[in-house]
Amino acid sequence: MSSYNIALNFEDGVTRFVECKAGEKVLDAAFRARINLPMDCSDGVCGTCKCRAESGRYDLGDDYIEDALSDDEKEHGLVLTCQMVPQSDCVIAVPASSTACKTEQSKFAATVTKVEPHNDAAVVLELEVDSTAPVFLAGQYVNIDVPASGQHRSYSFSSAPGASKISFLIKKIPGGVMSTWLESAKPGHKIELTGPLGSFYLRAVARPLLFLAGGTGLAPFLSMLEVIAQSNSQQSVHLIYGVTRDLDLVQVEAIEAYSARLPNFTFETVVADPASKHLRKGWVTQHMPAESLDDGDVDVYLCGPPPMVDAVRKYLDDNGVKPHSFHYEKFTPNAVPVAA
Ligand code: FES
Repeated sequence: MSSYNIALNFEDGVTRFVECKAGEKVLDAAFRARINLPMDCSDGVCGTCKCRAESGRYDLGDDYIEDALSDDEKEHGLVLTCQMVPQSDCVIAVPASSTACKTEQSKFAATVTKVEPHNDAAVVLELEVDSTAPVFLAGQYVNIDVPASGQHRSYSFSSAPGASKISFLIKKIPGGVMSTWLESAKPGHKIELTGPLGSFYLRAVARPLLFLAGGTGLAPFLSMLEVIAQSNSQQSVHLIYGVTRDLDLVQVEAIEAYSARLPNFTFETVVADPASKHLRKGWVTQHMPAESLDDGDVDVYLCGPPPMVDAVRKYLDDNGVKPHSFHYEKFTPNAVPVAA
């Protein structure tokens, strides 16, 4: 391979991808792309360029001093971008805003290829990007400009990075600006998007995964499951998908399809409505078996409305469970997601 794709994830949630040639240092690749990553000496002495590598293989270089990067920091995934030479695609968290690094979000145009209602509860919107397909990390979102409204709404990709078409699972909200536009949206209509954004994305899969989805918060998990399936991972993945009403359960066939492709994938659906005849009722937290938590040896990903996120955090605290990592994204229908 002659180059690698490096995702630079800034602290304001903006992600930019740069191409790093084989043997090239990340700082140099970023400068070629006109992104001014934090730096001072560029010699491995000052530590100003310190970032966190969240996934990928790389050579840290041996031309830096302990004061710039200690062994302990190295153990915890910190890197000096002025020394680091990637040996695979990497994701790097940059402790600075995109504005401070003199870069900005990418804007791209797309054409509607499909508008598919599901149960009068959600709509799958599929788009073909007019230029090159956008690069993003599974789990991230974009801002979609709602045509002729002057407003945008944020949606997570439900398709996987690299697919020829991108898709979104959009909750239907009566009178909502996007829902109203979707009622008349047809293949061929043009739309503009800005992103990718967000720090809620799939990290390197190194231990069992527990995915917790609330309503259309399922979308990023569909993207993540596709990435995991394509990687032939044998790691165990358990998804709990909770909704309010029976009709909110959408895309279940799409989830089921992963049972055939992922040998250690299991999932269950939960409906909160007391009047539901569903097999499992209540909240997601009532269906989190202790074995799913593996005594904390688990990476937990959670995407759902704020009360669900708060309830899961409380559940983990109350039960003394400290997952190896816990990534969440809260969303409300009209707000920009908040990730952690
Ligand atoms: Fe000084 Fe990298 S810029 S250590």
